[in-house]
Amino acid sequence: MLLGRRRSLCSLFGLSSDSMSLPRRRQIRTLALLFCVITFTTFLFSYTLRDPSLDFFKYASRLSDNLFFSSGGPCACRRRCMTEAEDDPWFAERFNRSVRPLMTRENSVLSDDTFKWWQWLQSERQPANFSEVVDQLFRVVPDEVQYVDAGPKRCRSCSVVGNSGNLKGAHYGGLIDSCDLVIRMNQAPTAGYEEDVGARTTHHVMYPESAVDLDNGTSLVLVPFKTLDLQWIISALTTGTITHTYTPVASRIKANKDKVLIYNPTFFKYVYESWLEGHGRYPSTGFLSLMLAVHICDEVTVFGFGADQYGNWHHYWEENTLSGAFRHTGVHDADHEYNVTLQLAEKHKIQLFRGR
Ligand SMILES: *[C@@H]1O[C@H](CO)[C@@H](O)[C@H](O)[C@H]1NC(C)=O
Ligand SMILES: *[C@@H]1O[C@H](CO)[C@@H](O)[C@H](O)[C@H]1NC(C)=O
Ligand SMILES: *[C@@H]1O[C@H](CO)[C@@H](O)[C@H](O)[C@H]1NC(C)=O
Ligand SMILES: *[C@@H]1O[C@H](CO)[C@@H](O)[C@H](O)[C@H]1NC(C)=O
Repeated sequence: MLLGRRRSLCSLFGLSSDSMSLPRRRQIRTLALLFCVITFTTFLFSYTLRDPSLDFFKYASRLSDNLFFSSGGPCACRRRCMTEAEDDPWFAERFNRSVRPLMTRENSVLSDDTFKWWQWLQSERQPANFSEVVDQLFRVVPDEVQYVDAGPKRCRSCSVVGNSGNLKGAHYGGLIDSCDLVIRMNQAPTAGYEEDVGARTTHHVMYPESAVDLDNGTSLVLVPFKTLDLQWIISALTTGTITHTYTPVASRIKANKDKVLIYNPTFFKYVYESWLEGHGRYPSTGFLSLMLAVHICDEVTVFGFGADQYGNWHHYWEENTLSGAFRHTGVHDADHEYNVTLQLAEKHKIQLFRGR
């Protein structure tokens, strides 16, 4: 009996449930016993009163909802929820649910502090009027609050797929694809690498300089580093007039306009301050994607982060000639980011698959 707490698709694919603590198992067993006793007596009761059986089922399901959904934890996943009640202090100190990861018209007004920090990231010289650009932006892409439906009936499993060479030969494809959301980033190809990295992509995180064409079913998640990036996405989906930022960029992009999401600069700054404690100039796309998942998913599995077994930091689709390319950009603190990722895994907030 699964007792309302759904075992996610993701975990069906070989993630063990060993991490379920003993007290929790005991609690579930007790609840199961209670459930059986109550349903049995209810059944007898309704049978002797010759109640219509429909009422019995209605009653039983309401009972089980109350018993197992409201007391079962903050989400319906069987293994664990991102925000368990008995939360870890290290996690609780950093995690702030009320900072929204995605931008809407309503939360697009940035504080002076946030705006200054964000403008400083890539030192944009003469930015366009931010609020006017945002206004245009939400005429082209949807202005919807999404993924805020966390609750005891939801089990959203997510895989976050980084681009590390440690995915080569790791055969994670099936596992990655079995999650509800599959989040990839930057150039990340799947064609020809399905066995190792999977084939589905529900969300693809990118910025203008790393943009690639997407399938109609995939959500483009734009991480803007400057006002021009917001102008670029408008242009790339419509007129194609912007061809250059600090470097040539794709003037048009194939992506479903109705599925475009915008990473919120306020959330970006929160990730940098709260999770990276100011290490590096700003977080990498990988870390930003991971934090997105931590905030919109109940269960997060992580692939393709960190170096490969030889300490190399190349991409899975490249031969190992660019080792160190990511680590030594001087923009991101890869060691610190990986440390935080390891901590999240140690505290069972994410499951980290280290590849080869
Ligand atoms: C969490 O974020 C909200 C909204 O940005 C902020 O008002 C609040 O102070 C933050 N909470 C903590 C504990 O930092
Ligand atoms: C940006 O545009 C808005 C509305 O058009 C205007 O009210 C605001 O003063 C402008 N901001 C700047 C910094 O020019
Ligand atoms: C893409 O998906 C949208 C719905 O989100 C649909 O209206 C449109 O026709 C699709 N386009 C293609 C090329 O499949
Ligand atoms: C990573 O964590 C270890 C132990 O927790 C610590 O000794 C090390 O200094 C950390 N490294 C970075 C780069 O933060």
